[in-house]
Amino acid sequence: MNILLLGSGGREHAMARSFAKSKRLNQLYIAPGNAGTSQHGTNISLDILDFDIIKSWSQDKKIDMIIVGPEAPLVKGIYDVIKGDEATKHIAVIGPSSDGAMLEGSKSFAKKFMSEFNIPTASYLEVTKDNLEEGINYLSNNVGPYVLKADGLAAGKGVLIIDDTQEAINSLKVMLAGQFGQASATVVIEQFLDGIEFSVFALTDGKDYVILPVAKDYKRIGEGDTGLNTGGMGAVSPPPFVTDKLMQKVENRIVKPTIEGISKRGFDYVGFVFIGLIKVNNEPYVIEYNCRMGDPETEVVFPRIQSDVVDLMEAASRGTLEQVQIDINPLTAAAIMLVSGGYPEAYQKEKFVTNIPTTYNSIIFHAGTKMEDEKIMTNGGRVIAITSFGEDHKVALDSAKKIAEEIQFEGKYYRKDIGFDL
Ligand code: AMP
Ligand code: GLY
Repeated sequence: MNILLLGSGGREHAMARSFAKSKRLNQLYIAPGNAGTSQHGTNISLDILDFDIIKSWSQDKKIDMIIVGPEAPLVKGIYDVIKGDEATKHIAVIGPSSDGAMLEGSKSFAKKFMSEFNIPTASYLEVTKDNLEEGINYLSNNVGPYVLKADGLAAGKGVLIIDDTQEAINSLKVMLAGQFGQASATVVIEQFLDGIEFSVFALTDGKDYVILPVAKDYKRIGEGDTGLNTGGMGAVSPPPFVTDKLMQKVENRIVKPTIEGISKRGFDYVGFVFIGLIKVNNEPYVIEYNCRMGDPETEVVFPRIQSDVVDLMEAASRGTLEQVQIDINPLTAAAIMLVSGGYPEAYQKEKFVTNIPTTYNSIIFHAGTKMEDEKIMTNGGRVIAITSFGEDHKVALDSAKKIAEEIQFEGKYYRKDIGFDL
């Protein structure tokens, strides 16, 4: 198979590494990729939101399958464009149609979906400028913390958690007035859920599914889960608190009804459903849906998948997932993310990255890097994820930490406490 993988983060490096191991692979291209993906395939500089260019390029290169890493091309409708053209509709697309991608693209859409299919989640109220008074009353009649979510995509910044009632009311007004542009013209106010979060991933063909390894991601920049939200500073798979009993509840109450809902709504959905969950008193609730894999979760999830991932993707695209058994490495994988000083606020790029070790027990996944004159340079906030394995998360994290200390670039920062709450 000739495969085109879209994206440029640690997630895409982890996917590229797994695809490159497949006996089924002929050519792997990554657009635009990074200094790490080029170890497993050919990086191509294509604009991943320019679907006309992607279509004509894919025809030229006889691409059989397009795998979409990030959400933006999905929400914008890459599936619909590729499948809607006679010349490219034979190409398998891993990632849902734009209507399925609304599960991530609109919080209010996702809330209505969960309510229709009885999927446990926080209670909520949808507010626009037309029912602002109702929103203010809702906040006044409930106690904090208040959760305010911009309805649309806001680069991971659209969720505010506020303790004070008056401050929440002010924030609601500011959001509706365009704090996150069109994305916050509608705001979802949610009941605050207090618990521990984890991420479940299902690969679906739109009617059946396989559950991939479960993970926990660490989103805050500071140790002890403090400070600003980031894309993710580290991950562990599996987190030990996710017992078989809890996973059974997740599968019966959440994964099954979600896939049934997708099928009943008639979405063309071949791809990943990423379910962000929170455990409250041993019961799982959905915090959010995403229509793609997580980052850095993929850096711990994919290395644990021992089955041929191209076979898995092909089964999803052919609608034969029902027959698939997935083979998972029982060891724990843990990832630590090295980031540029200042991230997630302003940071500098183009710093040389040195001392990258070659070790058999750990994997170095590039995120924000690029190659210049045979040298690796930083090219983003999240720079490198180090994934190590162990009998448990402590052993895995100890080896990842050793490498985190070794790798050097100016301004390097990482959390030394990943896994602190496990
Ligand atoms: P989301 O973009 O919906 O995943 O929200 C971002 C983060 O906000 C989540 O990872 C949670 O840490 C937090 N969050 C979202 N919704 C809630 C909620 N209802 N209760 C508590 N925390 C929440
Ligand atoms: N790590 C969370 C995400 O990918 O959205």
